Amino acid sequence: MTKEKIEKLIAQLTLQEKIDMIHGCGCFTTKGVERLGIPPFKTSDGPRGVRKEFETTKWKEIGLSFDFVSYLPCNTALAATWNRALAYSTGRLLGKEARGRGKDMILAPGINIMRTPLCGRSFEYMGEDPYLVSEMVVPVVQGIEENDVSSCVKHFAANNQETRRLDVDVEVSERALREIYLPGFEAAVKKGKAKGIMGAYNKLRGTHCCHHDYLLNEILRKEWGFEGITVSDWGGVHDTKEALLNGLDMEMSVTDNFDEYYMAEPIIRMIESGEVDKKTAYAKIDEKVRHILNVMNKLHMLDGERKAGGYNDYEDKAALRQTARESVVLLKNDKEILPLDRKKIKKLLVVGENANRQHAPGGGSAEIKSLYEITPLLGLNMLLGGNTEIIYKPGYFNEDIGNIWANTGDNENGQADSLNQDNNTTQSSPEPDVKAKSEEKKRRQTEMNEIYRREALEAARDADAVIFVGGLTHDYDTEGQDRADMKLPYEQDRLISELLQVRPDTVITLVAGSPVDMSAWLENADTLVYSWYAGMEGGIALAEVLFGDVNPSGHLPETFPLSEKDCPAVALGEFPGGDKVSYGEDIFVGYRYYDTYDVATAFPFGYGLSYTDFVMTGIRAEVLEDTAESKSVKVSFDVSNIGSRAGAAVAQIYVADKCPKVKKASKELKAFEKIYLEAGEAREVSLILEREAFTYFDEEAHGFKVDAGSYMLLLAKNADEIVDITEIEFKNS
Ligand code: GLC
Repeated sequence: MTKEKIEKLIAQLTLQEKIDMIHGCGCFTTKGVERLGIPPFKTSDGPRGVRKEFETTKWKEIGLSFDFVSYLPCNTALAATWNRALAYSTGRLLGKEARGRGKDMILAPGINIMRTPLCGRSFEYMGEDPYLVSEMVVPVVQGIEENDVSSCVKHFAANNQETRRLDVDVEVSERALREIYLPGFEAAVKKGKAKGIMGAYNKLRGTHCCHHDYLLNEILRKEWGFEGITVSDWGGVHDTKEALLNGLDMEMSVTDNFDEYYMAEPIIRMIESGEVDKKTAYAKIDEKVRHILNVMNKLHMLDGERKAGGYNDYEDKAALRQTARESVVLLKNDKEILPLDRKKIKKLLVVGENANRQHAPGGGSAEIKSLYEITPLLGLNMLLGGNTEIIYKPGYFNEDIGNIWANTGDNENGQADSLNQDNNTTQSSPEPDVKAKSEEKKRRQTEMNEIYRREALEAARDADAVIFVGGLTHDYDTEGQDRADMKLPYEQDRLISELLQVRPDTVITLVAGSPVDMSAWLENADTLVYSWYAGMEGGIALAEVLFGDVNPSGHLPETFPLSEKDCPAVALGEFPGGDKVSYGEDIFVGYRYYDTYDVATAFPFGYGLSYTDFVMTGIRAEVLEDTAESKSVKVSFDVSNIGSRAGAAVAQIYVADKCPKVKKASKELKAFEKIYLEAGEAREVSLILEREAFTYFDEEAHGFKVDAGSYMLLLAKNADEIVDITEIEFKNS
């Protein structure tokens, strides 16, 4: 449809019809205008797949069978692959299934920076580094949108905690906002051409993000050229005038008083009262409707040429399994116990309730009604095919159901209550021993842990091999709550420590969506594997890694601090804040802090081992362009697989300003490449660093600047392991 036709359509709409298009008339939909052929605009969560179907106006799942879908690896797992192609295939599947379910917008991906490991929604996001996020979000958005479905990149912006998420006021410097918290969104819009952006619940510098003139009008529209739809988070609107004037196109919420939404009848009343002059109001409303119609047009919703979607199919299983495989991070293999040799293992003991637990149904709005979910226990049975006796012992007692939004008595979803501030908090610690809501539950937990622990330790004595699968669940990694600390729940530390005493060769595997505190037993564990909520194929992918069918190639998208107390925001006492939260750590988030201030960590950003060995050498660089407007540098290096089996290396390039004129992090990730090499194979890799690889945000000039001078280019295996360095010089700023 041409722009002229869209304008003609707008001119034909009544005021009421326009108002109906810019606010929800159901949990996930707005009204259409049937007489003019404008369909309703249907949305659905979420980043891990297309959420189950609810009744139109009630948080009640309809409970039919047509909404079983793919359960995708969580965004942190996807980021841990450092594989842009898998980001694309994951986005493409998400978009296909959203279309298959008749949706017009999928409320994904989530890309908020992990400011602290305690944020309950870390599992929905892509870690701590804005460059890695930028590189992974673009292919996800492109994959989604090639299905004639809009993405909705969230949550814009600085939504880095769940505690008081509905009204916490974020104070952050312009430099940190621009260098850390916005780049992922900027890439999604400028490079990914995202058609949807979701405003965050929180405030930024005193104004709610969902109607924030600076964020939505100045940065998103004017600076970045965003042409899509801005959608509020569900219940994120608090002011009709701001919503009308400050760039919000579509208001959604969890309540069913749809005509009383801020952008519904109140707008009409505001116009009638003269509080906003008619001309301005009508122009603003037309602007919102124009954005919506433009996206509908691009999605072929108005011309009948729209692509059909689909559901999980054979090729999707393969893609999901590959992503899960490449997300697994090998953290320790000191005595090369891994990969396990199935020929030598006749009796395998699997300990840990996470071996048997399914995670898809939990997490809040990212919950998934998965077609199936292969747990690690099932995956091991699938892989070993009956030739190994597999004994399972839960090892710890966990009667939590792994979903704090699980249906209450009248089958209502917890999201119905998500606007109650009491539901957006910091959890109590799982220490000492257990986080229990009642003394009775705590007693039962401790008592049963004793029994389960004893059984597991007994069984460990005569097994040929022992695999522990623990970690977190969506009682801890969840929307609406932050963790109080990084402790493992259910007394896992004690179980792991005692297991390692009985069987020092125990393979410790953790399934979680965020870093945990391993200090109680880490030095005694020779073998440690980290697997995320890696989707429906996660259990078999993990089994394939443990038994060597797959060579692990995951790398951490976030630092694993020794303790949450070392995290800059926590160390500065700036988390979770109160009415306000000040990002006093500024740009020093994640490795930018641990590195610059020399704070020891459990595992650094970008860390991940392999069953083979890679040598990365010979970094050299050449300045191709050095003008005020444009910079580019070609950096090359050689990667060799000197081990005995094929594998994938993730070469990371960090940039360090040798003589910074302003305070800078000691280094910043600015390029990476995942390279697959056969045993003995070597390859030269060349990458181009553009201007943005050398910039910092100059608040006085209100823009990104490059200073003339020398820059070191660091070739690394992770943030702590620099394997080669070269230098370049810019003569021009
Ligand atoms: C939730 C979440 C958002 C989700 C939306 C719809 O509260 O913050 O990520 O897409 O509401 O469920």
